[in-house]
Amino acid sequence: MLPFSLKVLFFKFFQLMLKWSTKILTFRTPELFSGPGSSLQLCEHIAGRTGVKNLLIVTDAMLVKIGLLKPMQDKLTELGVRWVVYDGVQPNPTIEQIETGLAMLKKEGCTAILAIGGGSSIDAAKVIAARARNPHKVVHMAGLMRVFFKPMPLYAVPTTAGTGSEVTIAAVVSDPSTTRKFAIMDPKLVPVGASLDGALMAGLPAPITAATGMDALTHAVEAYISRNHTPMTDAEALEATRLIMQNLPTAVHQGSNIEARQNMAVASFKAGVAFTTAGVGYVHAIAHNFGAYYHLPHGLANAIILPYVLDFSKPECTDRLAKLAEVSGLKTGGESALQLADKFIAHVRALNAEFGIPTRVDKLKASDIPQIAAKAASEAHWTYAVPRYMDKPEIERFVAQMLPA
Ligand SMILES: NC(=O)c1ccc[n+]([C@@H]2O[C@H](COP(=O)([O-])OP(=O)(O)OC[C@H]3O[C@@H](n4cnc5c(N)ncnc54)[C@H](O)[C@@H]3O)[C@@H](O)[C@H]2O)c1
Ligand SMILES: [Fe+2]
Repeated sequence: MLPFSLKVLFFKFFQLMLKWSTKILTFRTPELFSGPGSSLQLCEHIAGRTGVKNLLIVTDAMLVKIGLLKPMQDKLTELGVRWVVYDGVQPNPTIEQIETGLAMLKKEGCTAILAIGGGSSIDAAKVIAARARNPHKVVHMAGLMRVFFKPMPLYAVPTTAGTGSEVTIAAVVSDPSTTRKFAIMDPKLVPVGASLDGALMAGLPAPITAATGMDALTHAVEAYISRNHTPMTDAEALEATRLIMQNLPTAVHQGSNIEARQNMAVASFKAGVAFTTAGVGYVHAIAHNFGAYYHLPHGLANAIILPYVLDFSKPECTDRLAKLAEVSGLKTGGESALQLADKFIAHVRALNAEFGIPTRVDKLKASDIPQIAAKAASEAHWTYAVPRYMDKPEIERFVAQMLPA
């Protein structure tokens, strides 16, 4: 067996090739409509596209129940677009939910898809769109560049801020049969159009606002400390961090503040742009397993894990954490880079505490840790250019810190 330090050299070489490939493959971004009410502009844009007469709306039942879709449905009808709703998506969407949506798309003869919802609805819609034009199964799309043919046109209206899924190359799918949550990563998955409509988020409950906002922060931070960062991803990640630090507490405590909601929607998009090129890191690799094993909401899992990973990574990215502290408004003057890095990590912990996010995972079982560590290592090590590596026994000890007290 190769020593871990040698394996790290292979990981780093592979990630360098990934970085070069992102220089050649510039990722497409969706045609974007931004601002309160922009979801209706997106509907007008869809209606203006030739060939989009029969639309599958992919969403979750809760959003139908609270009437969030109604203005968009009315607008589409007014413009002569027929639509049908698939509302079977649930948080951490499964292959089965995707296949059920695909069956409806085929039965109804739909030619385009509109995802309305959080990352779960957008991700499910991405994979339905890919499956509609590709013969291979969802599990065979897992990993990098495994979607061979161009998916059906997909439009996205995020209702959380969030995952950034409206601009990313990723779709995250759960497979309960193997207790696995895996990512499909392919530039072909990026939606063709999207809206950032903060007004749709005014009713998002405070705990979900907090957790999804911490997911966006995690994207910005993991992209910023990634070794695969670029000047473009740095600019987007720093601006996302600044916006999140300025607006997330307001969005959580005064949900109907549309300015804060809109700024969070923009921040989430920017964080998505950053991580789709620079990648994420151990926070996501471990969080996906907490989602698969214990159905922990994705943002909540990230929020819990983020300060632990920052503590561990700090020796290899002190200056970058210091810069994040600066854009977060934490610099008072005269602090060293190390002091600023510590301030940033302490601030993330303080935000978690303010939002009632715990420091440990209640459902985490010691007996699951070896498997969780193995799956997190296999997700992280080839694709995520993390600043500091852990071998599997280290990941086990690391995850054990989050066992219930
Ligand atoms: N594709 C990507 O790039 C990417 C990135 C990060 C995470 N993800 C994935 O996205 C999923 C999580 O998505 P999410 O965090 O956005 O949450 P979600 O889509 O699972 O939604 C969470 C809950 O919020 C409710 N909700 C959503 N919008 C609402 C609104 N405006 N008002 C009231 N209630 C609302 C939903 O009904 C649901 O119950 C996970 O599966 C995660 O792995 C994907
Ligand atoms: Fe995420």
